[in-house]
Amino acid sequence: MTQEKQAEKLQAIKGVRDILPPESALWNRVEQTARDVFATYNFREIRLPVIEHSELFARSVGIETDIVLKEMYTFPDPTVVADRNFLAGMRALRDLHDAYQKNRGYTIARAKEYVAAAFAGLSEGIERAASRLTSLRPEATASVVRAYIEHGMHTLPGDVKLYYIGPMFRRERPQKGRYRQFYQIGAEVLGQSDSPNIDAEVVEMLMAYLERLGLRGTTLYVNSIGNAECRPKYIEVLRQALQSVSARMCEDCQGRAITNPLRVLDCKVEADQPIIEKLPRITDHLCDACRAHFSAFQEQLKQRGIAYEINWRLVRGLDYYMRTTFEITAPGLGAQNAICGGGRYDGLVELLGGPPAKGIGFAIGTDRLVLSLQEVGAGNMKAERKDVTVPVTGNALKADVGKVFIAWMGTASYPTAVKLARRLRAENFIVELPPEETKLKKSLGLADRLGAHYAVLLGEDELASGSYVLRRLADGEQKKLPEPELVGYLKSDRRP
Ligand code: HAM
Repeated sequence: MTQEKQAEKLQAIKGVRDILPPESALWNRVEQTARDVFATYNFREIRLPVIEHSELFARSVGIETDIVLKEMYTFPDPTVVADRNFLAGMRALRDLHDAYQKNRGYTIARAKEYVAAAFAGLSEGIERAASRLTSLRPEATASVVRAYIEHGMHTLPGDVKLYYIGPMFRRERPQKGRYRQFYQIGAEVLGQSDSPNIDAEVVEMLMAYLERLGLRGTTLYVNSIGNAECRPKYIEVLRQALQSVSARMCEDCQGRAITNPLRVLDCKVEADQPIIEKLPRITDHLCDACRAHFSAFQEQLKQRGIAYEINWRLVRGLDYYMRTTFEITAPGLGAQNAICGGGRYDGLVELLGGPPAKGIGFAIGTDRLVLSLQEVGAGNMKAERKDVTVPVTGNALKADVGKVFIAWMGTASYPTAVKLARRLRAENFIVELPPEETKLKKSLGLADRLGAHYAVLLGEDELASGSYVLRRLADGEQKKLPEPELVGYLKSDRRP
């Protein structure tokens, strides 16, 4: 082999790349900041396998989606290829062939027997091989849900809040910001509540993270894609509307108009845009419950000072979503400018064989986030040198943060609870803020089971007086303190 050929052979494969120093330091900062910020919202890390049964993605992301149809790296399980039944079938075929060749003992009856045996063995073997196909994960929500079910996490106290960091694999056409091995930082909340307060808190955490990284110029787009009641009806309305216009649209849209009308809304072809703009909008076809959920979500975003735009075309390319969907775009990325996508997926746990549960989450594309930080001048790799002397575990305060549970009572006190949570999180406290109003006794029990050090009791009286009750959970000692003093007290009383 010539030297040239050898060098060619040893290059990284298409769409896959190395992340070298000093850029790797920026990656570490981006990942460490996620750990620090997510921890203050009481998320904990889950480490997941990069390979899963292909069926997991077919059943969650959806058998008809581009990801599952075209983009997964899938391979058979070698032990199944050598499946007993499969081999027995192959043997029966070979015997038949031998008998026929040698014309020894060959009768129609024997041949039928052989063929039947071969067919039974082969079909069972092939079926088993197909059900045991393995894929490199194209995303991680499905794996989180699988793990939630597999480990009975629904029995854990409160909502289960998990984050993950790692590589994903999709066989897409590589371009700037689009790779075949790319990285995500994702977070998921699984539990019994579908309160829009959870949706807003998840988005708040995301924005707090981007702000801490110094990323400017992002846009948050939100939408609601309805539920099992209103979405099918909307899809029908859309299908009807497309009947009269799809002939004037691109070839892809002509197909989608029949097979999957929602995907038409993803079309980027210039000439199709004026047609799409006139199509019926899902926001006008939501059922009452979904409309109320969407408007409460928006109200919560406003209360938290989070700017957003509604994008009625944000239907997302994965099947498991319902109600809230969102995406964030960032500057300096060209066509692949979505740095984050997420949404609600109530019912996915059940779909994968688990107990009834609600879910919502997001995933940030780390490659794109890093690119964008570099573009806006916030990707200073030199600053990272300091982190080498400060432990890479990140925030110096991290080791002694306290966990605070905010027990709010009465809807009027929720906005104050949200503000207090934010203030404490900015001071690196781990704060658990229940999304729904809970009775005091239940709240204190949950705070205890979650291992909180303190509970802040915030009801109408406290709201009126501006002083909140701070209860130390270890010994039940209580103090009534105005907010600034409460924060100061907690800071001085941080415990390991
Ligand atoms: P997704 O929109 O498919 O959602 O991916 C999330 C982010 O991953 C995208 O916004 C983008 O930044 C990044 N990304 C996707 N494909 C590539 C690629 N080929 N190259 C570089 N970056 C890419 C999900 O994966 C959902 N699991 C998100 C989620 C979590 N929804 C609920 N929970």
